[in-house]
Order: sequence, then structure tokens, then C-alpha cells
Amino acid sequence: MNIQQNISLKAYNTFGIDVFAKRFVSVDSVYNLQKILAQEKNIFLLSGGSNMLLTQNINKLVVYINIKGISVDFENENEVLITVNSGENWHEFVVWCISQNYGGLENLSLIPGHVGTSPIQNIGAYGVEVRDVITKVEAIDISTAKRIEFSNADCAFGYRNSIFKNELKGEVVITSVSFKLSKNQHQLHTNYGAIEQQLTAKNIINPTIKDVSDAVIYIRKSKLPDPKKIGNSGSFFKNPVISSEKFIKLQEKHPTIPFYKVEANNNTGNTLSYKIPAGWLIETIGFKGRRFGDCGVHENQALVLVNYGNAKGSDILKLAKIIQQAILDTFEIALEIEVNVIK
Ligand code: EPU
Repeated sequence: MNIQQNISLKAYNTFGIDVFAKRFVSVDSVYNLQKILAQEKNIFLLSGGSNMLLTQNINKLVVYINIKGISVDFENENEVLITVNSGENWHEFVVWCISQNYGGLENLSLIPGHVGTSPIQNIGAYGVEVRDVITKVEAIDISTAKRIEFSNADCAFGYRNSIFKNELKGEVVITSVSFKLSKNQHQLHTNYGAIEQQLTAKNIINPTIKDVSDAVIYIRKSKLPDPKKIGNSGSFFKNPVISSEKFIKLQEKHPTIPFYKVEANNNTGNTLSYKIPAGWLIETIGFKGRRFGDCGVHENQALVLVNYGNAKGSDILKLAKIIQQAILDTFEIALEIEVNVIK
């Protein structure tokens, strides 16, 4: 394996932040990954780079996960089990599934990143989360270089959350993800407002998985910036969940506030809470479309922070902190950063 020196990571992160890796290696098999891990423990893992904000040069060995391959493990008339190696591009995999008429991932079309990172933040969009179709995750334990398997339950999935973001952060390298998809009688999720509208606009009454995927692609393209043109990492913050009391007060002041009801689990049992779109909060305080030097808040979706060209990670982080403070001052809501900030 070829360990390279002083490599720019600009092309390896969708924010397009130009920091350098002191040493960099691209790994294309589990065997080579195990070999590297046997020699080096002080590594920095890099995959699709679509959910991270790099704020400085990386002095550790950057290990770029480039393990490719898709295999069908089992299929019958109704369903198929597929294992996908972690270096496969997520959207290309979704497109392939649709071409094979495998259903379940169509709402997750056009999400940037690689398959191997999809379970880490439990990617989700338009009423579907990847946890709904994952059956197994395989990984290598960094300290022992041995293989480990996780069932869906082992992954402890939550909203933009999993065991890989918590207890196992920095402990394992995901090498493959297995999915259970449908081959007929697909369970379509089309009740998300924007999808319904898009299908109606196209006069589609009985949508196929391809129709749903096309609608999602259309919606995403109209709202979210293409990382190849404007650097970004999708939603920069999580949508906050607030108590009923807080929500009622907020709704009195802002009768048009959008919300989703959620059952939150706390020590006193199940309580009704409200998830508020952070994009709405940020737009309401007047930040949507504002530019600060080379970074800013996207003009079509205030939840997305963007790099217009040469922003530093620290510039974007500074803007994020200004937004968090303004939201706290105005709404008494603490916005949590969703992307992985590398300091
Ligand atoms: N809204 C505004 N102003 C904005 C943006 C949104 O008022 O600038 C309001 C609108 O009322 C809209 C509502 O917020 O109806 C929801 O907006 P949207 O449908 O765009 O969804 P979101 O809650 O802002 C979440 C995910 C996205 C995912 C969409 C669709 C999070 C953190 N983000 O955004 O995920 O694509 O739903 O399901 O949960 C990502 O994680 O990177 C991502 C793009």
C-alpha cells in the first residue's frame, strides 16, 4: 500500500475545506485495512466526507476507505438481501437498486456519501431512515483488527444517531452494510408533503419506486445545494425536539410554526414532544441566504451552511456558533450540530 505525504483533503470532503493530511492511504480491501490497523492505531478514518467539517490539518494517518463491491446474499420472490462494501457511493447504490426493482431506498435518493457511513448517522429523508432496511453491519475493531458483526438492534439507531456515533466512536471501521429490500408490493412512503405534491404535479396516481426516487431527486435538487458546485454537508444542525409546554408558547407567538409530533422516551415514561425544523428557526431570525465572507446560509434551505469557495472550517464553525446563540436568545432552544466537527 502506498502511503502518500501531504495530500490536500479538499476533494475528499463535500464542504470542500482545503486542509492537508500529513500521511494518506487509500484502502481497497478488508485484508489491507487489517494490515494497516496492525501497524497503526493513530488513524483518522475518511469515507465519503459528506458529514464532516474539517477545521485543521490532520497529523494522523488518514485512512481512506475505498472498499468496493455489491453482492446478493439471498433472494426469493418477495425480498432480497444485499451486502454492500463500505466504499460504494450511496446514491449509485440506490440507483442500482431501483434499476433492479429493489424497493426500500428510493426516499434516500441523492444523499451524498458512501454506504459505509450511512448507519453512523442513520441517514434519513422524506419519512424513511436507513435503519428501516439495515439487517447487519460488519466492521473491524481498530484495537484488535478483528471482524465484528452488528445486528440492526446492536446498532442502537435513533434520529441521526447510532452506537457508531456514541460508545463506538473512533473504535471501529465499518466495512460493509447489509440490507433487506422488497422485490414486489413495495411499501411506498409518499405521504411527505413535498413528495405528494410532486407526484400530483406529474399526474402520477400509482407511483413506482422510480417515480418516488425521481420526485425525491427533484425536491432535493430544488432545495439542497450540489456539493460539487457549492461546498456543504447537508443539514448542519439537527431538528430540535422541544416539550409541549415550550411548543404551545412558541405557537402562540408564531401561529404558522411547522412541527412534527414525536413520542419522546424519558425517565417519566412516554411524553409527547415536538420536533421543530431548525431551518424554520434559522429563517425566522433572518439568516437564510446570508453570506459572511466565503461562507453562509443556503438561500433555499436555512439548515444548510455553505462554503462559497475558500472558507475555512473555523469560519463555518464561527457562523454555526453565531446561529446557535441567536436561536438560544430568540427561542430559548439549543441547536445541536449534526455534522462531525473535526478539531
Ligand atoms: N423550513 C423553513 N425554512 C427553511 C427550511 C425549512 O421554514 O429554510 C421549514 C418548512 O416549513 C419545511 C420544513 O421546515 O416545510 C421542513 O423542511 P424540509 O422538508 O426541507 O426538511 P428539514 O426538516 O429541514 C430534514 C432532514 C433532511 C432531509 C429532510 C427531508 C434533518 C436534520 N434534516 O430537513 O436531511 O432531507 O428533512 O426529509 O433532519 C441531512 O440530514 O443532511 C438532510 C438534508
